Amino acid sequence: MDVRVVEHPLALARLTTMRDARTDNAAFRAALRDLTLLLVVEATRGFGTATFPIHTPVARTEGHRLANPPILVPVLRAGLGMVDAAQSLLPEAQVGFVGMARDEETHLPTPYMESLPPTLVGRPVFVLDPMLATGGSMVHTVELLTARGADDVTAVCVLAAPEGVRALADSGLPVRLVTGSIDERLNDSAYIVPGLGDAGDRQFGAV
Ligand code: PRP
Ligand code: URA
Repeated sequence: MDVRVVEHPLALARLTTMRDARTDNAAFRAALRDLTLLLVVEATRGFGTATFPIHTPVARTEGHRLANPPILVPVLRAGLGMVDAAQSLLPEAQVGFVGMARDEETHLPTPYMESLPPTLVGRPVFVLDPMLATGGSMVHTVELLTARGADDVTAVCVLAAPEGVRALADSGLPVRLVTGSIDERLNDSAYIVPGLGDAGDRQFGAV
């Protein structure tokens, strides 16, 4: 599996803000937004462009746009905080949604919502979820996408645990990973260590 870790100095700085337990919900959301921009830049590297003629104030020249923009699929809840940033770089992107909650005891994902186009054949997909922990939620999400014909999926994650990276690679699904860090490990509650805590609660508060 293709794995890219974005180690840009600005990504490291935003990640530090997100990790810091003193960061409040608003500052956490702002750092997530900035970091998502950097992750999406990396995720779209190598995408093909289509050219079209434009006029500058001085001359005629060639313009570029993405030939095949990705569809964005945030995993609710925590992925919601990545949508606005991804859309600002990809204003033409369609957005689908998957709702998934991890059982606190078993750590297994329970899907509760799915709003996706009927076919994803020929369409790149960016799954937006800040956390790749056991990998269960991401593997399940990518399975939903491949069931609709997707064969070019990028998991865009703020943090990953080695266990989650392994699970995604071992799934054999057509997916690559762009992440801000691969952390040390999971703890007994399947939280990423050192991690940043619960990405949903840190954006929206514990409910
Ligand atoms: C978090 C996170 C991922 C999942 C990762 O969501 O946003 O979706 O856990 O864990 P996994 O790799 O072990 O499956 P959570 O289930 O806590 O729901 P939330 O986004 O609503 O807080
Ligand atoms: N989900 C989170 O929000 N944080 C973790 O560390 C693991 C799963």
